[in-house]
Amino acid sequence: MAGGKYQAPRGTFDILPDAARARRRVESAAAEIFARAGYEPIATPVFEDTELFERGVGHSTDIVRKEMFTFEDKGGRSLTLRPEGTAPICRAYVEHGMHTLAQPVKLSYVGPFFRHERPQAGRYRQFHQLGAEAIGSDSPLADAELIGLLAGLVAELGVPGVELRLGSLGSLDTRQAYLDELRAHLRAHEAELSKEVRERIDANPLRAFDSDDEGTRAVMAAAPKLVERLEGGDAEHFEEVRALLDAAGIAYEIDPTLVRGLDYYTRTIFSFVCDRLGAQSEIGGGGRYDGLVEQLGGRPAPAVGWAAGIERILLALGEQAEEPSRDVFVAVGDEGGERRSLAMVLAGELRNAGLSAEVDLGGRGLKGQLKHADRIGARRVLILDADGAQLRDMASGEQRSVDAAKVVEEITGGLA
Ligand code: HAM
Repeated sequence: MAGGKYQAPRGTFDILPDAARARRRVESAAAEIFARAGYEPIATPVFEDTELFERGVGHSTDIVRKEMFTFEDKGGRSLTLRPEGTAPICRAYVEHGMHTLAQPVKLSYVGPFFRHERPQAGRYRQFHQLGAEAIGSDSPLADAELIGLLAGLVAELGVPGVELRLGSLGSLDTRQAYLDELRAHLRAHEAELSKEVRERIDANPLRAFDSDDEGTRAVMAAAPKLVERLEGGDAEHFEEVRALLDAAGIAYEIDPTLVRGLDYYTRTIFSFVCDRLGAQSEIGGGGRYDGLVEQLGGRPAPAVGWAAGIERILLALGEQAEEPSRDVFVAVGDEGGERRSLAMVLAGELRNAGLSAEVDLGGRGLKGQLKHADRIGARRVLILDADGAQLRDMASGEQRSVDAAKVVEEITGGLA
């Protein structure tokens, strides 16, 4: 019976073997795509100094204001379970002097992240992202390459109903004039805005585009849009990104209301949404963050990247649990004895030959072993008994004698 005294904490979950198999398929597809494009794996600690996220992600963001798991260590230092991976990777880029490497430095990662959000389908307090960053290039080629990687992953996995939304926030300097214009618009309609948006007119007016509040949405529909105000280098950059996506045959829609929940973005932002998901419809997204490395104390290094939520990808795929299967189960006749050690040796040889092979670890009789082999999805059973060795095909029930000295060749040859 299920249900014990202890349960996984709210908003967290166990990854049981069936789910782990589906997850591994997603992770290996991503790992292949990253490797082929030269995005080397990096892993940073699961916790960092709190200040890294305050500075990097931004004081006015929901993440920093209310979603971080922050704690004090025994020395009174404030630490935070990482809510995202880009600030830590930029920290590592600066700390390890990666500006001396060939630029851009192209990195990829996968792992757990933590946000104290209200749990619901597709939104958890511990979730898993995979992502990629290219640090040290301001070329639109980098933006297009990164977007292409996520588009490629979505296509390779066969995630249905995915759409790419694209926007641009301009560079930090040119954004200021637009933000003043937006603030003026918001102030002129202050009474119609939600309390939360009103409180952030100064600190973070762009977030008003993300509001669910009806009054705010009406005000935002009439608000000036940043993509329509892009000038000079910003406009050119955006145009080139679009031309590159067109050339690569990557479909997208310009979304003038697109904003993201992190403060570090400049110029290109993008979001891959899936119509099979409910309210949490974004499977992955990211953008350019040209000022972050410098903000964290490094030499200026323009950068672009994205992260995708593994749980959301699996939800969109319908999480088809994959049945486990084994190539061979090595069983022994009821007289057992030293055949059990022979079974173990043969299973070892089969494994070395690249097959999955198991033996009975439960002291079962032959009948029990065959039943067990069936339960775990073994395709063949090799039976070692007084008559020698028999190989049984579990699907057809066919059984034939094989030469005990050559079983590994027989089986690997037969399966090839
Ligand atoms: P983000 O949009 O905050 O961006 O998160 C990226 C993805 O993580 C989301 O699209 C979503 O799939 C998943 N995700 C976020 N929060 C949760 C949650 N509570 N539960 C389940 N999945 C979640 C970033 O984190 C940036 N670091 C992306 C980036 C990389 N930008 C540039 N480089």
